[in-house]
Amino acid sequence: MTITTRSPATPINPEPSGEALAGTTVRTVADHARPAVPPLVQRPRRLRRGEAMRRLVRETRLDPAMLVAPIFVRPGSGIREAIRSLPGQNRVSPDEAVHDAERLAGLGVGGVILFGLPSGKDPAGSEAWAHDGIVQETLRRLRDRNLPLVLIADTCLCEYTDHGHCGPLSPDGRVDNDSALISLARAAVAQAEAGADIVAPSAMMDGQVAAIRGALDAAGHEDVAIMAYASKAASAFYGPFREAADSAPAFGDRRGYQMDPANGREARRELALDVAEGADILLVKPAMPQLDIVVAARERFDLPVAAYQVSGEYAMLAAAAERGWIDGRRAMLEAVTGIVRAGAGIVITYAAVDLATWIAEDRS
Ligand code: PBG
Repeated sequence: MTITTRSPATPINPEPSGEALAGTTVRTVADHARPAVPPLVQRPRRLRRGEAMRRLVRETRLDPAMLVAPIFVRPGSGIREAIRSLPGQNRVSPDEAVHDAERLAGLGVGGVILFGLPSGKDPAGSEAWAHDGIVQETLRRLRDRNLPLVLIADTCLCEYTDHGHCGPLSPDGRVDNDSALISLARAAVAQAEAGADIVAPSAMMDGQVAAIRGALDAAGHEDVAIMAYASKAASAFYGPFREAADSAPAFGDRRGYQMDPANGREARRELALDVAEGADILLVKPAMPQLDIVVAARERFDLPVAAYQVSGEYAMLAAAAERGWIDGRRAMLEAVTGIVRAGAGIVITYAAVDLATWIAEDRS
């Protein structure tokens, strides 16, 4: 269990749940003192009486099949290294990644998304497309196991470049968009060859979906889908991930390619561009700070919409739960329910194991 589930000592909301009142007479206002209220026709509380009623009218239900679990893979064997900034998450070698995937499949989780920590980095990020690159090696092992999981590869360069940016640098120190497209396309083809069902370009380079679609098709991978990080903000909530994936930029930041979190119209433009370029699934990231964009993606387009509950969103909940400040289980379920209610049919979340376990418990 990665999220602390103990309830705070004092219940936050001591209001009786409905059932607790059955058989007791509670009078908070003396009958003679009741104010004269007009007859109420609408009494929404009728549908909140008791858990059976609430369950019947519940609008949003979580299913493990809609969850995708990130896996951080590193070279070696038998390795399972805890990630300090993401309680309960690990960097694992490919053999251990197979164990994790087996467990996730057993819980009915829908898919995994792989992030690689390469054996070496260079200015171009060439291990991203190497045949024996860490993600490709792990994909081949997972493919061989033939688990009922969708295999997704994050397609980016920041984990592989020695400067930590999401594409190669031009002489003036900016990220060179059009050279990055060539590298991203090569990486996507290598991932498809290794067995990815979906590639997920996250570099926020202009034209990356079109470049990848063209390269995949040219290499005979017409059936490999693209989950486009269509709207990805330059978010402070990626902090723990950068420690996990060792991908913090060595200088500067990503605001020259990731979006300003303040911009909703621009986010909708990015979504439309990725649809036009051939995206199969639209991903919004981060999730909770960008919920309006999840709504917009769901209302405007008829593609599946995914949302990434990112490392910082998870770490905040895990940390507060560890301190007993919130009920970690209820808070995580509520956060992910909110993301789904906003319109996401797929949620990438570090809490996939916990959520799948809790969903099963709540059903039994
Ligand atoms: C790679 C990438 C990042 C995340 C997903 N893919 C890091 C970044 O953009 O800096 C962040 C995921 C998370 O915080 O959980 N570009």
